[in-house]
Amino acid sequence: MKKLLRILGLIVLIPVGLLFLLIVVMSIISPPRGGKKTAAALQVPYPAVVAHRGLSGLAPEATLPAYLLARECGADYLEADLQRTADGVIIVFHDDTPARTTNAARVFPGRENDPIGSFTYAELTELDAGSWFNEAFPELARAAYAGLKILTLDELIDIAEGGNNNPGLYLETKAPSSYPGIEAQIVEILRARGWIGGPAPKPAPPDPSLNAAVGAPSVNVAATPARVIFQSFDPASVARLKELAPDAPRVLLVSQEIAAEKGWAALVEQAAATAQGIGPVGYLGWPWNIGPAHRAGLVVHVYTINESWQFKLLSRFGSDGFFTDRSDRAVELLGRGGPLDVGAVFRRIGY
Ligand code: G3P
Ligand code: CA
Repeated sequence: MKKLLRILGLIVLIPVGLLFLLIVVMSIISPPRGGKKTAAALQVPYPAVVAHRGLSGLAPEATLPAYLLARECGADYLEADLQRTADGVIIVFHDDTPARTTNAARVFPGRENDPIGSFTYAELTELDAGSWFNEAFPELARAAYAGLKILTLDELIDIAEGGNNNPGLYLETKAPSSYPGIEAQIVEILRARGWIGGPAPKPAPPDPSLNAAVGAPSVNVAATPARVIFQSFDPASVARLKELAPDAPRVLLVSQEIAAEKGWAALVEQAAATAQGIGPVGYLGWPWNIGPAHRAGLVVHVYTINESWQFKLLSRFGSDGFFTDRSDRAVELLGRGGPLDVGAVFRRIGY
C-alpha cells in the first residue's frame, strides 16, 4: 500500500515539479514585466490595449461603431490599416480588395476583386461596409450596421477626438509599396490635425463619472507623446516614417512567414535600427522571442489576441501590449474599470 502511495505521489509530483521548473526557466529567459521600463520611457500605456480595426469582435471592422465602441470601452489606441484611393484619399481599410467586407460585388459587378486603391473615394462611398457582418455573424447583427461607410483617416481622427475618452492612434501603412508617398501624406494629415509635431495637444480630460457609469476606464493617451504609433510589415515604410516623424514611436510588424524567412534575431536587429517596438503575430510571442526583443530595447505588442487564456499566457511570457478585436475583454482582464456594461455602451453610441 505504501509503495502504491509513493508511486502515486511521484506521478503527481514529477509533472508539478517540471511545470515549476518550466515557469522558472521562462521567467529567466523573459522576466515578467521585462518591457515595462521601455514602455514607460516611451510613455506608451502598459500593457497597451490596441483596438484592432476598432472593437471589431462586436461590430463591423474599421467602421464608425467599431471605433466608437473601442473608444467608449476604454481602449488605449484605435488601430487602423491605411490605404489610398485612386484619387488620393487616405482611407481606413484592411483587405487588398473590397470583396470580403463590402457589397462591391453588387454595386460594381466584376470589380469586387480589384485592388481597393483602384476605386475613387466617390465610388467607395457607394459601398455598404456593414451588412457583410450581419450576414457572417447573425448572433451579433444589428440593423444599424447596414449601410456603414468606409472611413477616411480624417474621420477616424474625428472619432478619436470626439468623445469623453481620448485614445491614441495606432496606424499601419498597409501594402505601402502600392502607394508611393503615402507615409508623407499620412504625416501631413496628422500634422495638420495637431497629432504630430508641436506641443502635445491638451484635449479635455475624460470625466471619470461618465466612464464609471458603464464600467469603462478613463483614457487620455491622445495627450501624451505616444499619441500616434506607426506600424508596418514593411521595414522601408517604417524607415520612411522615422525620417518624416521621428518623434512618433514605430513598430515593425512580423508575421510567421516573415519570421521564417528572416529569422527572429535579424528582425529584432532590424526593428531596433528604425523602431521602438516589434509586433509579432501571437504564435511568435514565446519567451525566447520576447526576451531578446526586450534586451534590444524594444517593446513587444502581439497581434491578434482575443481569448482570455491568450491574454494571460502572453502576459506571462512578457508581452507589453495586445492588438485585439475584443478590447472590452482586455480592459476587464487587466482590471481597468469594469465590469463593463457593453449594452449600455451600445445605447450610448446609438447602435
Ligand atoms: O497591425 C497589427 C495587425 O493588425 C497586423 O495584421 O493583417 O490584421 O493588419 P493585420
Ligand atoms: Ca493592422
